[in-house]
Amino acid sequence: MSLTGLAATRAPMVSTSRAKTGPGEAGDTHKPVMLSQVIEHLRPRSSGVYIDATLGLGGHARAILEESSPEGKLLGIDRDRQSLDRAARRLAGYAGRVEFHHGNFAEVKDIARHRRFGSCDGILADLGLSSFQLETAERGFSFQRSGPLDMRMDTASSLTADHVVNRFPEPKLAGLIYSYGDEPGSRRIARAIVRARPLHDTQSLAEVVSRAVRSRRRAKIHPATRTFQALRIFVNDELEALRQFVASAIGLLKEGGRLAIISFHSLEDRIVKGSLGSMARGCICPPEVPVCVCDRKKLLKLVCRKPVSPTEEEKIRNPRSRSAKLRVAERL
Ligand SMILES: C[S@@+](CC[C@H](N)C(=O)[O-])C[C@H]1O[C@@H](n2cnc3c(N)ncnc32)[C@H](O)[C@@H]1O
Repeated sequence: MSLTGLAATRAPMVSTSRAKTGPGEAGDTHKPVMLSQVIEHLRPRSSGVYIDATLGLGGHARAILEESSPEGKLLGIDRDRQSLDRAARRLAGYAGRVEFHHGNFAEVKDIARHRRFGSCDGILADLGLSSFQLETAERGFSFQRSGPLDMRMDTASSLTADHVVNRFPEPKLAGLIYSYGDEPGSRRIARAIVRARPLHDTQSLAEVVSRAVRSRRRAKIHPATRTFQALRIFVNDELEALRQFVASAIGLLKEGGRLAIISFHSLEDRIVKGSLGSMARGCICPPEVPVCVCDRKKLLKLVCRKPVSPTEEEKIRNPRSRSAKLRVAERL
């Protein structure tokens, strides 16, 4: 599915002068993953200019704004309008230093230039979903809550999980569950879904998937985890957005500026590792060619060769962090 089909709506800046978030609002439980490692590698400073391309509830953004106080500036992007509004309320105290943009980070180049953030000291992407999205049943992301089969990060886009689950032909459904969920039982699951149609809520889907794979597996994760991941990635065209983001973000950094990306599964990490690795390599001419003909220049250096992982203590305190990998690159 092309990004144009899922094009995110752009919107003007969200006002930062609203009332502060009240206690107990959905998403209050969100804990920013690897916060100290992100700050250590982005090294925010007062004259710095930063982009948080996945603002979420503003946890990382708040730390960047604190560390870059009193003058550092931050542009927060999220394709989820509700998250952006909540983050704007949470970050109201930083008015004048922070801007908000509703959009897809695939378009980070245009967004940044339009917002005059075209030359940055640091860019962060913390991929996936926030606790707010998972905990809001009506968004349909969680099999632990009963909600509609929606799964759109941007509720203005047209494709929903309901459409995929109820309209896609069985082979196509099996293919996407396999490709985006790494699910070995994808064919059996697709067959069970097609037989059980129509399915309109998360828990009915989770039950159908669980029944289809239950007897075959003694897994540590819920049997519907991979299918839900696959549907979400497909509905939001997440991997293509990530490819475009990594390719453009580097071009927005000043010399010495850093890009930090936290991924949560191997499909994401493979893209981040591959794209950064290729930009760190420069010339790709075969060894037998005496003089470079490809003319590719090294654009960045990898700050750490291996991805940074959360501490054992963080994994216990915040189980969502368990699979996280942080990769950091510096613009040359
Ligand atoms: C894990 S949360 C970020 C949490 C944030 N770092 C914090 O500390 O609160 C990921 C966020 O990225 C957003 N997101 C995912 N893909 C996106 C994309 N392609 N463009 C913009 N935002 C995206 C999601 O809507 C979600 O709010």
